Amino acid sequence: MDVLPPPDGVRAKNEMTTRQMLTLVTPLLVLCPQRATAFPWSIDMFRGPAVQPLAVPPRNMPSGTLPVDGGEPTMTREDADGSLRNPLTATAAHLRSGAALFVIHCAPCHGDAGKGNGPVAFQMIVPPPDLTTAQPAERTDGYLYATIRNGSVVMPAYRDAMSAQERWKVVLYLRQLQGRLGTE
Ligand code: HEC
Repeated sequence: MDVLPPPDGVRAKNEMTTRQMLTLVTPLLVLCPQRATAFPWSIDMFRGPAVQPLAVPPRNMPSGTLPVDGGEPTMTREDADGSLRNPLTATAAHLRSGAALFVIHCAPCHGDAGKGNGPVAFQMIVPPPDLTTAQPAERTDGYLYATIRNGSVVMPAYRDAMSAQERWKVVLYLRQLQGRLGTE
């Protein structure tokens, strides 16, 4: 059966007329304009429960879930100097990615061709050396690798920024820049 609208003048018990509504709301608007006009939705974000990341202590690691292999032992540049050898061969693909990594990470200081004339070199009190000159060219692969990994005196460390593979690729590319590929 269709529900017919009530005939004019007949209203449900709890239904308000527009006039009644205005009579109720107008004094509210006048007396407390803040409350009546600004429904406080805008402070909900302040009032919400704060999420404290460590409110619940993290679970203990189940035994055996720490990485136990595949990592790299920490090693000083002096140790790496004599003991590490480049595990990669100088394929075209490795040299290409070595070059790309060099441009991203090293060229700002050392310059695209490793000549020590990168765009930020002028800002540095200790200037970045030309990596193609005799001294860096005579360094061992291990020394170059550890310099990238550990950084040097003022040179930043790339321990977290590059994987071991990536560092070895940069070493290959350095050898290419120095014209010493395959002599190590
Ligand atoms: C913020 C500038 C900066 C960046 C970026 C930088 N270097 Fe250096 N690098 C230097 C400075 C300065 C030195 C010399 C002072 C020192 O040993 O800290 C240096 C020294 C070196 C040496 C040592 C040369 C030697 O004979 O002892 C090597 C090798 C080297 N950088 C390679 C790299 C490679 C490869 C990258 C990229 C992964 C790189 N650098 C990124 C500033 C930089």
